Amino acid sequence: MAEKVLITGGLGFIGLALARTLVGGGMTVRLLDNLSPQIHGAAPQPELGTLLADDRVEVMRGDVCNRRDWVSALHDVGSVVHLAAETGTGQSMYRIGDYTSTNVLGTALLMDVLANDRHEVTKLVLASSRAVYGEGAYQCARCGTVYPAMRSPSSLQAGQWEPICPCCCGPVHSVPTPEIAKTSPASVYAATKLAQEDLVRIAASALGIPFLIFRLQNVYGEGQSLHNPYTGILSIFSNRIRQRKLIALFEDGQESRDFVHVSDVADVVALGLMGDGGDGLIMNVGSGVQVSVETIARSLKREFADASEPVVSGQYRLGDIRHNYADISLVGQALGFSPQVPLEAGIERFVRWVKTQPIAEDGAEDGLDRANRELIERGLMKA
Ligand SMILES: NC(=O)c1ccc[n+]([C@@H]2O[C@H](COP(=O)([O-])OP(=O)(O)OC[C@H]3O[C@@H](n4cnc5c(N)ncnc54)[C@H](O)[C@@H]3O)[C@@H](O)[C@H]2O)c1
Ligand SMILES: [Zn+2]
Repeated sequence: MAEKVLITGGLGFIGLALARTLVGGGMTVRLLDNLSPQIHGAAPQPELGTLLADDRVEVMRGDVCNRRDWVSALHDVGSVVHLAAETGTGQSMYRIGDYTSTNVLGTALLMDVLANDRHEVTKLVLASSRAVYGEGAYQCARCGTVYPAMRSPSSLQAGQWEPICPCCCGPVHSVPTPEIAKTSPASVYAATKLAQEDLVRIAASALGIPFLIFRLQNVYGEGQSLHNPYTGILSIFSNRIRQRKLIALFEDGQESRDFVHVSDVADVVALGLMGDGGDGLIMNVGSGVQVSVETIARSLKREFADASEPVVSGQYRLGDIRHNYADISLVGQALGFSPQVPLEAGIERFVRWVKTQPIAEDGAEDGLDRANRELIERGLMKA
């Protein structure tokens, strides 16, 4: 039986952390990656340290949109962890063809090879996203648990940031979202992640290949790209602080997310690969804790000893959700997983690592300004 684990997007943020965990546990890995310049910078120098010198690690440069690359990458592999993807929510709203191609066609080709070619794959793991829920679960005092629709452009324009009850239009507050919640993608990125889930679930079930799908919340930690202005709120804010630029909080800064450290994500994937308790399941992975974007900005400023205040900009982006945090009971029951890195300790580790990295860009228009301008020009971001 083939023991090697193929990690697609293996030179990315989660891929490298996972590779370190698996190799540390005695496994052999193959990392398939096209070294996308947006993520790795123009001259890719991923922080690989001693990892690549290890003979249990093999790197293959290739593209998940190329069927031949899949055939080569799958040779002699027992498990696949499919991470390669385009991951920017805002950017997905105008690079629709690219996002659909990498995320949906890439996954379709994987399943096509598994359906038609000889292989030894006996386990498949997909990294999906909490984005598939859209707003996720809320509580209405009158109607109970509800799933509000995507916020309309007119309510955002009126500064009405909080979703309302889809039944009685009354106020609602967010509650942990369980996996049985309605899926309701609010961005093209989210739609591609849901399509990936469907492709894996349907084709792997039919082919009899055990699979696990993890709906990851906001993953952060050491190694997250500092080049990519389209995703990774802690990286984006850290760059601003180090460049002594303003942190402008969208909406009123009280939108919230669930932040999970990358080492916890690597651990849960390893648990899924090693046992069969999660086979066939779609599981949330997060901390289960709701944290506002303003709190993240303030925590980072404290760690960087930056005394300036974040500024509430009132700007907003179409496709953004207001709140989401995970009900993590299923992954606890199925795999015995519980997150080990509390947010404060994780932020401290992250900032210590950022300080060892060169400051990404420091022109008049940095990556974030450019990313925002691209949205504003297309009417996808408003002041
Ligand atoms: N980081 C998060 O907060 C988060 C949250 C939810 C889900 N996820 C999912 O986890 C996965 C990994 O995310 P990440 O944060 O490590 O992202 P990342 O951008 O750091 O890594 C993705 C990797 O995929 C590679 N890649 C991109 N297009 C490719 C292609 N066509 N062929 C081969 N390789 C390609 C990139 O070069 C990069 O190394 C993604 O599927 C993402 O949707 C991430
Ligand atoms: Zn109601």
